Amino acid sequence: MGRRKCCCICCTLIVVAVVAAAAVILVRRSRGVAPVPGSPGAIVEKYSEALGLALQFFDVQKSGKLVNNQISWRGDSALKDGDEEGLDLSKGMYDAGDHIKFGFPMAFTATILSWGILEYGDQMSAANHLEPAKESLKWITDYLVGDPEIDHKCWERPETMTEKRPLTQLNTSYPGSEVAAETAAALAAASLVFKTEESTYSEMLLEHAEQLFTFADTHRGSYSVSIPKVQKYYNSTGYTDELLWAAAWLYHATGDESYLSYVALENGYKFANWGHTSWFSWDNKLAGTQVLLSRVNFFASNVQKAELVGLQRYRKTAEALICELLPDSPSATLSRTQGGLIWISEWNALLHPVASAFLALVYSDYMLTSQTPEVSCSGQSLTPADIRKFVISQVDYVLGDNPMKMSYLVGYGSKYPEQVHHRGASIPKNAKTGCKGFQWLESTEANPNVAVGALVGGPFLNDTYIDVRNNSMQGEPTTYNSALIVGLLSGLVTTSSVAESFS
Ligand SMILES: *[C@@H]1O[C@H](CO)[C@@H](O)[C@H](O)[C@H]1NC(C)=O
Ligand SMILES: *[C@@H]1O[C@H](CO)[C@@H](O)[C@H](O)[C@H]1NC(C)=O
Ligand SMILES: *[C@@H]1O[C@H](CO)[C@@H](O)[C@H](O)[C@H]1NC(C)=O
Ligand SMILES: *[C@@H]1O[C@H](CO)[C@@H](O)[C@H](O)[C@H]1NC(C)=O
Repeated sequence: MGRRKCCCICCTLIVVAVVAAAAVILVRRSRGVAPVPGSPGAIVEKYSEALGLALQFFDVQKSGKLVNNQISWRGDSALKDGDEEGLDLSKGMYDAGDHIKFGFPMAFTATILSWGILEYGDQMSAANHLEPAKESLKWITDYLVGDPEIDHKCWERPETMTEKRPLTQLNTSYPGSEVAAETAAALAAASLVFKTEESTYSEMLLEHAEQLFTFADTHRGSYSVSIPKVQKYYNSTGYTDELLWAAAWLYHATGDESYLSYVALENGYKFANWGHTSWFSWDNKLAGTQVLLSRVNFFASNVQKAELVGLQRYRKTAEALICELLPDSPSATLSRTQGGLIWISEWNALLHPVASAFLALVYSDYMLTSQTPEVSCSGQSLTPADIRKFVISQVDYVLGDNPMKMSYLVGYGSKYPEQVHHRGASIPKNAKTGCKGFQWLESTEANPNVAVGALVGGPFLNDTYIDVRNNSMQGEPTTYNSALIVGLLSGLVTTSSVAESFS
């Protein structure tokens, strides 16, 4: 749903709100969300290899002073980000093929990466991919900087940037509930990831998450209105979905009933659009919220009656989405390619199938764990095995089982995009281009550096792909695409997937 007009997808911006709030006392109660952990099962080599590659894209995108850098052509960059405000904002990740650190999609990346780790940490660990995932997640906890206009006038390596990198922030006069709430969601989810091993850090994340949520909810307003220049990149179509999504994550992270009431009662009736499906993306969090709250409906035993009604509506809407995704269901969407890929948007086409498949997989694992045998789609039953089969069809398409016979995950298989729209990958390591490295954008050769693990935008509706560097519509990778495919592959990396407890 992003309508990106310009060549770079970049994203959003900002940053964020430093909020002064009264000390928040954390009250942790039992969430009652406790699926029984099981053995993760045998490793599926093909998905393990793809997962290892996909995780490397986060290393390609890192800003700041690199630690244990494994990417030979990357180095330190943007070390002074945040200096103007006396902050160290040097870390974080470049959003896509350019060098902006947009807050909105970066926070979404962190939320999704956390979700994948929370659902499938045991499987990732069994395949030796958990530590790099956690390390990348932690890299994103810093705030974000960048100015879309200045950044897009250059084509250079991040390591050689000298332009000014302005910081855009939100405050009570210029609110941005989407960014503040998505950041709250990310920090709440990440607090669960780090809860056991780094408890002080985890508590700090959660405290900031609660403050940001309060800021987002109290000073309601769209960041696209406050900061109109973002509309060209990551325009938001509304913030009410982010408020529900953040509250859902905060409920998981704190066990505080007030967050459950927030999503299931009044705000649910106003904002959740129950009964109507939508596509999950960096802009629209409703489908993710439906699946995440289904977790509570599947596993929690202590929910109040009034809230239970709201939770069931979220779950019913999640089921309606499953019914649209599976090709043999009576309500199957027609929005798919002949090759079988869910296809919604020409820009970054892989976002929707990968995001949808991730949600479907998580949902089917909740079914398995709770011994729920089927979802009924207008009378036709779909089992967890049917759902997993659909999920695998989408992943296998991405990895090369498609009419082009090419992998859209860079580095996987023998044929994959060679002219990925990515500045750092397109310019030789020692070139001194200054701001004007456009000959490398126009070069017809393969990128001199491989953007390993990049998941590119993907095919047209007719299943074709044009591997030319200026084709940013199809050839530009993003960090949130990576987070989604990482979650998806993590759920498939072993033969068994039982939903894990978040705590
Ligand atoms: C509030 O944010 C706006 C937009 O980023 C900025 O122009 C303004 O200076 C900020 N106000 C304060 C008091 O920081
Ligand atoms: C951004 O989204 C808002 C809300 O949907 C819409 O009114 C506006 O026209 C959009 N701007 C652009 C540039 O697409
Ligand atoms: C596939 O679709 C794209 C975008 O609509 C179009 O430019 C291209 O010519 C089509 N290719 C074929 C082989 O039909
Ligand atoms: C990319 O460059 C080619 C060759 O210069 C040109 O024909 C094509 O229109 C450009 N495509 C885009 C999307 O800018």
